[in-house]
Amino acid sequence: MNETLKTLLERRSVRGYKEDLVPAEVLDQILEAGEYAPSGMGKQGTLMVVTQNPELVKKLSAMNAAVMGTTSDPFYGAPTVIIVFADSEQETYVENGSLVMGNLMNAAHSLGVDSCWIHRAREVFDSPEGKELKAQWGVPEAYVGVGHCVLGYRSAEYPQAKARKEGFVIRV
Ligand SMILES: Cc1cc2nc3c(=O)[nH]c(=O)nc-3n(C[C@H](O)[C@H](O)[C@H](O)COP(=O)(O)O)c2cc1C
Repeated sequence: MNETLKTLLERRSVRGYKEDLVPAEVLDQILEAGEYAPSGMGKQGTLMVVTQNPELVKKLSAMNAAVMGTTSDPFYGAPTVIIVFADSEQETYVENGSLVMGNLMNAAHSLGVDSCWIHRAREVFDSPEGKELKAQWGVPEAYVGVGHCVLGYRSAEYPQAKARKEGFVIRV
């Protein structure tokens, strides 16, 4: 099997991380893969905010938990977070942002970095505190949160893929 297909088939969502940071040169490659995701009409209506600042990661995790009404750590201890935003004024914004997320997770896996899509970015960055962070970071108001890609190195066994469901493909 070629390396690209191997990456696509073997990437799994990891839900437990060590404290080790993804090195800058590896993180740069993951971010570049995000930049090259397809976008509706090639408008590149997405952007990524990346942090390895422990205080900020903690704050983002707490904001995410608050959306669910819990105090758990929805980031599973991951020390690196990329938040993907997409321009809601573009018709394909959800698709644009989702493809960036996909590129990030697959690129990460190809480089030996574990990842997980953490949801609720929309709600987090629609909150007054989230809007304040967006303004502070220079994220335009029309850009909405699509997902958080948490990154790092797993603290437990690599998860197994579930069997694929019947009828996934209809050949006509
Ligand atoms: C839109 C979307 C939102 C997700 N949100 C979360 C989340 O908030 N927390 C989480 O642990 N996993 C989340 N996931 C990961 C899925 O649970 C995971 O992809 C699925 O269980 C299949 O596992 P795999 O990624 O290992 O193939 C999300 C995935 C997608 C596509």
